[in-house]
Amino acid sequence: MQPASTRGGGGGDTLESGGYNRDTSYKPMFFGVAIKITLMLVVVGTTLLILNQSSYPLEFFRSHNSFSGPSSENSNVDSSSFHQHTSRIPPSSPAKDENIELEKTLRRAAMKDNKTVIITNLNAAWTEPNSVFDLFLESFKIGNGTAHLLDHLVVYAYDKTAFERCKTAVRLHCYAVTTEGVDFSGEAYFMSEDYLKMTWRKIDLMRSVLELGYDFVYTDADVMWFRNPFKKFYADGDFEMSCDYYRGNYNDLSNTANTGLTYVKSNDRTIELYKFWYNAREYFPGRHDQDVLNMIKGNPFVHQIGLEFRFVDTAYFGGFCEPTKDLDEVITMHANCCIGIPNKMHDLTMLIDDWKRYMAIPPSNRNSTTRSWTVPRICG
Ligand SMILES: *[C@@H]1O[C@H](CO)[C@@H](O)[C@H](O)[C@H]1NC(C)=O
Ligand SMILES: *[C@@H]1O[C@H](CO)[C@@H](O)[C@H](O)[C@H]1NC(C)=O
Ligand SMILES: *[C@@H]1O[C@H](CO)[C@@H](O)[C@H](O)[C@H]1NC(C)=O
Repeated sequence: MQPASTRGGGGGDTLESGGYNRDTSYKPMFFGVAIKITLMLVVVGTTLLILNQSSYPLEFFRSHNSFSGPSSENSNVDSSSFHQHTSRIPPSSPAKDENIELEKTLRRAAMKDNKTVIITNLNAAWTEPNSVFDLFLESFKIGNGTAHLLDHLVVYAYDKTAFERCKTAVRLHCYAVTTEGVDFSGEAYFMSEDYLKMTWRKIDLMRSVLELGYDFVYTDADVMWFRNPFKKFYADGDFEMSCDYYRGNYNDLSNTANTGLTYVKSNDRTIELYKFWYNAREYFPGRHDQDVLNMIKGNPFVHQIGLEFRFVDTAYFGGFCEPTKDLDEVITMHANCCIGIPNKMHDLTMLIDDWKRYMAIPPSNRNSTTRSWTVPRICG
């Protein structure tokens, strides 16, 4: 295998890190929603019977009245429920101190009116000069009405190199993610044990963010931001996400979830979902967060907590799987359906160039050609 930080040679095979790879080819094969749900319930039920241990989500299956999670209004996270929640698992979770640190970061970064932050992931492999992370930051700067959003960007830095890279950008809010017993520096191969730990650590942190009362937009760093997404998000949604392929209906669960761009409001439903999602990893060992979300998105639990998944249309939130056709409409573009950093870099660089060309033409002179991409070329 080749270290993720090596971008030069043919590195298209499996190297990925930081949760950036959202290629559909890694999606597990399933025969249908019904089988999926049944299997899940059987597995969950059996495992829990064996364990015979009182823990989330078993509690849910026993009783529907277990919504005692801290409310979104309450910034004082109940650390006892926090520990209870993680106690069965080797503690990948922070102590209270770390939550205090996280809260400080969120407070500095949040939009003042509505406690909203934008969060992305960074590790050493993505910090090289002319990296995907640089293109990510550039997209905000050249986007239409996106530059100010950088003031609200929180960077989860998974190692020292990433943290230092983040610190060199004055406007960013850097948060050092630590995980007991894991060294995330650089070589977290896609789907390796450390890679998986990293993605699950992220999900765990997101729950903390929600418990602290902050709404967030999570974005992979290979999502380019060209317009302000808040105008197109559903104002009353709990949990919205992009998808690789959009089937025409915002609440159709057969939209293939792509968690590379996710907008989540802090409330009891979303906090419960994140606990459920995090714990579900134990029942689907070896899967990353996005796979597991696709497996649990139709679970009765989700319905019972009253949460509705919503998918945002690729007509605005596109990617290399299904590009947004019209640059007049595009909000974000994701380097999904693309494996390997060199390939991503290639097509993302073209994408950025397309956008610059488009922006350089006065709106009245734009035509169907200047409003189209020249990508995907290698990806897609
Ligand atoms: C939150 O407030 C910011 C301005 O501080 C605004 O741009 C953004 O649209 C708001 N988001 C929502 C969901 O209202
Ligand atoms: C930016 O967006 C606004 C509408 O929000 C539009 O009027 C303006 O022409 C856009 N600027 C460019 C350069 O496309
Ligand atoms: C679109 O505009 C570009 C530059 O403004 C021009 O070169 C091109 O011929 C136009 N294409 C069409 C189909 O009008």
